[in-house]
Parts: sequence; structure tokens; C-alpha cells
Amino acid sequence: MEWSEFGDWAHRVADWSQAYRETVGDRPVRAQVRPGEVLGALPAAPPESGEPMDRIFEDFEQVIMPGITHWQHPRFFAYFNANAAPPSVLAEFLVSAIAPNCMIWQTSPAGTELETRVMDWLRQAVALPEEFSGVIQDSASTATLAAVLTMRERALEFTGNSEGLFGRPPLRIYCSAEVHTSIDRAAWISGIGAQNLVRVPIKGPSRGMDPDALREMIAQDRAAGLQPAGVILCVGATGVGATDPVTEIMAIARAEGLYTHVDAAWSGSAMICPEFRPMWAGIEQADSVVFNPHKWLGANFDCSAHFVRAPEDLVRTLAIRPEYLKTHGADGIINYSEWSVPLGRRFRALKLWFLIRSYGLDGLREILRNHVRWAVALHDRLAQEPDIEIVTPPMWSLFSFRYVPDGAADLDALNQRMVDAINDDGRIYLTQTRVDDQLVIRFQAGSFGTTEDDVMMTLDVIREIAHALSNG
Ligand SMILES: Cc1ncc(COP(=O)(O)O)c(C=O)c1O
Repeated sequence: MEWSEFGDWAHRVADWSQAYRETVGDRPVRAQVRPGEVLGALPAAPPESGEPMDRIFEDFEQVIMPGITHWQHPRFFAYFNANAAPPSVLAEFLVSAIAPNCMIWQTSPAGTELETRVMDWLRQAVALPEEFSGVIQDSASTATLAAVLTMRERALEFTGNSEGLFGRPPLRIYCSAEVHTSIDRAAWISGIGAQNLVRVPIKGPSRGMDPDALREMIAQDRAAGLQPAGVILCVGATGVGATDPVTEIMAIARAEGLYTHVDAAWSGSAMICPEFRPMWAGIEQADSVVFNPHKWLGANFDCSAHFVRAPEDLVRTLAIRPEYLKTHGADGIINYSEWSVPLGRRFRALKLWFLIRSYGLDGLREILRNHVRWAVALHDRLAQEPDIEIVTPPMWSLFSFRYVPDGAADLDALNQRMVDAINDDGRIYLTQTRVDDQLVIRFQAGSFGTTEDDVMMTLDVIREIAHALSNG
């Protein structure tokens, strides 16, 4: 394809995209294809000669689109949303066109300096103190890995990268069992090991770490000759939004000299609203915090905001400076690839800049507040249904419930059948999770396109599917 043909196709793609987003609510939310169906429709061998764009586009619509689960659907109530708001999509289009690699300052000074500016906007937006500096990582998993590597190096006085872990007392990291699996992976990859990820018991309706238990486990480890390295807290964990008591846990970690990382991948975006900030009170004591604007804030995937109190520790852990990555004659510049595991970096700051300027913080706040309000309203309605039991209360816009009709024998199997039937129906999309070893159904509102009616449709669908299950 020549650039001379690009404009026509770009207009077609833009029109298609607008029509898709305006009508996505008419489609079933979850892809309704069977395993292997898309693969089977694709030629096994690559074409030897180039094909016309018309044909490629036709196949895109006919082969690929039926196999898409519509994450931008207004009734996508599963997982956590990955919103892509229009200004952010436009920015990504431009980024695709100019396609810079923002690995170091000189490879696109605007990439670096815009990132510094928008990350400081975000810091202010969620009211983190000025001592925090931000970097955009590709994912919360990467941010957590970078934090765990820094935690390891701090504990080993920055000798782990050179000397390895062999022959040293095991390092220990403390977290609850509610944390996301990215924490397990960070423990594996950092060489700390899954066995040294200590699961602290939880207590209370927020399912947060029990501070007394944490204190005791650290003491036991020290007595056994193990080396505590850090604590990983969750604020709004994936399953049902578990949230650790940040102030109390931070006080213990600080007294013990431990590095702290807070995973607020989903809920962190909500902190642009002052009324939600008490849920992470104490956050200013953290060493490292991550949240994903690519989830609830409307920035296209991928865009993960990672804030650290001491960037010099992160850089000391991850920076590697061969001659070809040096910028001579420019002091005080930031090379963000030294703050992250990959070297190459997409120009992610542009979509945040477009997004925040286009909506303004007030516009974004209104969207998130509505999600929470409507989710709570749905929760209140479901709580009145005779065959529904609320299992966990709303944490922001997330709660869980079970279908518990009189006389039902295997409730786990019944609730799985209910989720499957709901998703086969296609009007809404929900997922299941486990709470205290029970299978529960999870509801979460967070799509930028959702309305109160969309959220409330969940009640009708649940009633209808429950009726069908009880009759058949
Ligand atoms: C609490 C939490 N942490 C981390 C992650 C991982 O995020 P990412 O896909 O950006 O690595 C998720 C994903 O949903 C999450 O819910």
C-alpha cells in the first residue's frame, strides 16, 4: 500500500470506527464463536502476493469481528473495563502514524517531557504528594515487577543484580491472598520465589490484611533468619475489590524498614474523586503505587501509571547504560527506559494528554461517580430479590452475589450455569470468582458508554435467566 492511498482508507477506518462505537451496544457482548472457528476460517499459509485492501477489510469484518468480545460495549460488566475514549483513540492513531520509540530523551524529547508533565497532572489528580514521580509502564504487571525488583535491590543494598541471590537468606514479601497474580509472577521473575510470598490473613468486610498478623509473621521470619524485604498492598483487588488498611500496614512496614508497593490497578483512577480517597488513606507513606488509566480512566490500553517516592532507587535497579544509549552534553534529562524493564517505549503520554484536556478532571469524575452510583443502586435492588444473596458489598462499582433458590443442591455448579447462560444470552457480560471458596458472580460497572438503564438491565436479565434455570 502506498501512502497516497492511506488517506482514503484512514477515512473509511474512521467512519467504520465511529459507526462501530455508536452501535456496539446492539451486539452480543461476549463473542459467540466456538473454539477454533476463527482459526479455521483463516488460510493456513501466508499469501505470496499482496492482496487488495478491500478484500482484507472484508475479511476483517466477516472473519475477525465475530470473534471479538466487545470490551467497549455499554453492558460489559465483567473483569475490569479497558476503556478507550474517543480523544485517546485519536491520539493513538497519531502515535501509530508518527511511530516514535520514546526509549530515551533524545529519541523524542517531546515524548519524555510530555510524560513528565502528564504524570505530574495525574499525581495531582489523585492527590499523591509532590515527592512522587511518575512513569508510564505498559501494564500494572510490569510496574509491580519493577517495584519488586527495586524492593529486592533495596533489601540487598543493591548487590542482587551483580551477585545474584544464591547463598543468601531468603527474602520475604508480605501480601494477602487477595492480590492479583501479577504479584506472584513478580516474585517468580525476581528470583524471590513463590514460597517467599507470605500470605497474611485478612479480616473485615474490606478483606484487608490483618495488621497484627503481619507484625507477627515478620517477627517470626526474622527469628528464623529470613530477611523481610517488602509489603505489597492491594486497594481494590481484582476478585471483589479487597482493600488493605493502608495507614496501619504502612506504619508497620516503615517501622520494619520494608519497601511498600500498592497495587490500585483498577481503583486508583477513582481517586480523582476526593470522596473515594479515604479508601487509600495513608497512601502518601508508600514507596511505589500503580494504577491503570487504561482500565477505568479512559486511556487506550496500554497505559499504566507508576508512581515512586525515590526514582533513584528504581533507576539504580533497572538502568543499564551502553554507549549507544548515552546522551552527551545534556544534563538532568530523564531517560524513562531506565525506569522500566523493556527498553523500547511507545509514546503513551499523548493519549493521556488528549484525554485529560478533552474531558477535564471534572468530566472524568462525573463518569466514574455515575458508575459507582448505578452499581450501588443495582446492588440495592438485587439485595431485595428473594433468591439472590449479596456476598460482598460494593467496593466502588464492584460487588458480588449468588443465586440461592430454595432447595438448590450444588450452588457452585448452579451459579456457574447462571453465568454461562447470562453470557450466552449476550445482553450483558459478567464473570465469576471465588470468595471463601464459594463460587460467586461478580458485577462491575465501568464502561464509559454505560447508562443507568444499561446497568439496571442486569436485573431483568438475571430474573429471566433465573426463571429459565428454575424451569429447565
Ligand atoms: C488489581 C489488579 N492488579 C493488576 C492487574 C494486572 O493489570 P495489567 O493487565 O495492567 O498487568 C489487574 C488486572 O485486572 C488487576 O485487577
